[in-house]
Amino acid sequence: MDSVAKITYYGHSTFLVEVEGKKLLFDPYIRSNPLAAHIDMKSIQADYILISHGHRDHIEDAVELAQQTGAYIISNYEIVKWLKAQGLAKTYALNTGGHWMFDFGKIKAVAAVHSSSLPDGSYGGTALGFLIETSKTKFYFAGDTALTYDMKLIGDYKKIAFAFLPIGGNYTMNVDNAIIATQFIKCSKIVGMHYNTKENIKIDTELAVKQFEREGKELILFEIGETKEI
Ligand code: NI
Ligand code: MN
Repeated sequence: MDSVAKITYYGHSTFLVEVEGKKLLFDPYIRSNPLAAHIDMKSIQADYILISHGHRDHIEDAVELAQQTGAYIISNYEIVKWLKAQGLAKTYALNTGGHWMFDFGKIKAVAAVHSSSLPDGSYGGTALGFLIETSKTKFYFAGDTALTYDMKLIGDYKKIAFAFLPIGGNYTMNVDNAIIATQFIKCSKIVGMHYNTKENIKIDTELAVKQFEREGKELILFEIGETKEI
């Protein structure tokens, strides 16, 4: 499959993916991340903002960036309801297993094994992963999740070009489990996320890349602020 996605990393699990001329921003958490202090939020543009679950380290900058960019926010029903109550009008709700067609392609909400309370304690529904399909590429954004057999559904029925997987452990899968996930999703090109932001998710990144290499897989890690074509 062609390499047609341009990806920019803003730290933690925050990625901007440009496909089909549209900008998809995932899980915006920038301002409170000291590692992303050099990122100018005002420079970020987006057409869609996708929120995997309600935790602060995935949603904190969503309202501000939606207002700034005019982007549609896409998340689960409960999170969308919570965002609407904060005055956001351009929203779209999915729930696990559902999909919708947008102007760049299809977003399917897939299972993530994780919790999802919102920053003020509100109920945040069920944590999601996202499967994105355009005419040129397919990719998977796992959000925060444990390793789960549900990932096999992706591998068995979709040919994805690359996937964003958490690798920091403690709250999510670690590197060892992410390597097993590559077998479930039948995808060898992995972008690592959700690591190094806090003490208990710090990893040896060089070792992680080697561990993937040993299994014949590629772990792509970004500097915060870096853009790569995948
Ligand atoms: Ni979380
Ligand atoms: Mn998280």
